[in-house]
Amino acid sequence: MVTYDFAGRVALVTGGGSGIGLATAQAFAEAGAQVAVVDINGEAAQRATESLRASGHRAEAFELDVADEAAVARTIRGIDQHFGRVDFAINNAGVESDPVPMADLANEKWQRVCDVNLSSIFHCMKAEIPLMLRNGRGAIVNTASVAGLIGGYNMSAYIATKHGVIGLTKAAATDYAARGIRINAICPGFIATPFTADAPQAIIDRLLFSIPAGRPGKPEEIAKSMLWLCSEDASYINGHALVVDGAASLGTAGTRFDDLF
Ligand code: NAI
Repeated sequence: MVTYDFAGRVALVTGGGSGIGLATAQAFAEAGAQVAVVDINGEAAQRATESLRASGHRAEAFELDVADEAAVARTIRGIDQHFGRVDFAINNAGVESDPVPMADLANEKWQRVCDVNLSSIFHCMKAEIPLMLRNGRGAIVNTASVAGLIGGYNMSAYIATKHGVIGLTKAAATDYAARGIRINAICPGFIATPFTADAPQAIIDRLLFSIPAGRPGKPEEIAKSMLWLCSEDASYINGHALVVDGAASLGTAGTRFDDLF
């Protein structure tokens, strides 16, 4: 297994209290980084932090709604003051929308999903980039989704915002490429986290059937890709949307027949 030495570096992870964010916070800590666990669920962030500290790592919890522009700026300033620097930022917090056809989606739902999934990434990066410019380097990974690349039923706000995350990532990567900051996106497929645990079994079965890998991904598998994108091994990878989905988005959904041979 590849291991990284991030000793002396600081990683910030939004949505760090659960699922992919939690696995990523753990992976950064195990690689020696100090970790800011940021989450709207303060208790989850605190639990994650205590567990990291119990394993001898340095971590701090920050309760934050990433949709709150002023609070984002304040919190990221606070993280910088606490740790003295920010080297890696994983802008990962995200929410689903109501599963209804587009024209039935309530305006407030649309707005909330835009605020949490997309505008938050703009505001987080606005706060993170100056800290990285001060150090002359940094790496950001924004969590998009395969829903940022393809369509899907009854997911209009989610799909639109995740496409937006990829676009914003590419734009920001271009703006800062010459100044030592790399900005990439990650596109998970179906990952077994609390985010997907509540889906009706019939939908889970259908999703699993459409994944050539034949299983959901693990949060740790996304975390490893996050660390790789932040590492020097990915030093010339910038503005990329990395798909980690067990081949689910390759267009085979509904056509799987390997079980017939
Ligand atoms: P999760 O539900 O396990 O974790 C999400 C975390 O984000 C939770 O701790 C939650 O409290 C936090 N959060 C939610 N809204 C927030 C807000 N406004 N401010 C701060 N924190 C907030 O979900 P999971 O699966 O770990 O998802 C993480 C990211 O991965 C999301 O952006 C999601 O869209 C994306 N994703 C997940 C996939 C999956 O199959 N699990 C697939 C593709 C993308």
